Amino acid sequence: MSDSMRGDRPAAVDARSPVDARIDILKPRPDAEQMTIAPDWRPMDQQPVWRADFPIDVPQDQYVERREFMKFMVLTSLALTVGQFWIVAQNWWRRRRGLSEIRRIASLDQLPVGGLVTFTYPGAQDDCVLIRTRDDALLAYSQRCTHLSCAVRPRLEEDVIHCPCHEGYFDLRSGRPIAGPPRRPLDLVRLQVRGSEIYATGIVARTV
Ligand code: FES
Repeated sequence: MSDSMRGDRPAAVDARSPVDARIDILKPRPDAEQMTIAPDWRPMDQQPVWRADFPIDVPQDQYVERREFMKFMVLTSLALTVGQFWIVAQNWWRRRRGLSEIRRIASLDQLPVGGLVTFTYPGAQDDCVLIRTRDDALLAYSQRCTHLSCAVRPRLEEDVIHCPCHEGYFDLRSGRPIAGPPRRPLDLVRLQVRGSEIYATGIVARTV
């Protein structure tokens, strides 16, 4: 009996049909992530026997890389979220005790060695300056001069902080007065570095 009589004859291809009858759309396709592709791209039946003992192939290797990257991103996001919750909880506790809140100032990436950034802390009118010294130390002071409250300006190349109103000078490392009318050190901002982020955690008014 011929194939056509048994009904096993392959379907004829109708060039006008939008559907290729030779493709069985109901047949499940192999998962591309699970397909084994050897480094030389030849089919597996042409590969040496030993390759069967080392089943890591290109798609699965890429799949593992993507999975590890996603895991890294999820853990990083989780750590940031936990960190934010920690700050919110700390600030709630601090407000109840009348303490200054913890506030992010900048990231280390934004502040090069020998650079500075201004910010306000603890109030919106309290101007401060964060300094990253040439030997990579982090310092932060109130910018209010302790003589008559003019705004002081760091001179990093001279290791001093200058007040232009009456030629007052403060030592950059300690904030203590070294010349001119000021007698009291600049108020000091306490800092904390978490990861690559720099936070203000309090301010210290000093008399000596
Ligand atoms: S206000 Fe700064 S020296 Fe007088």
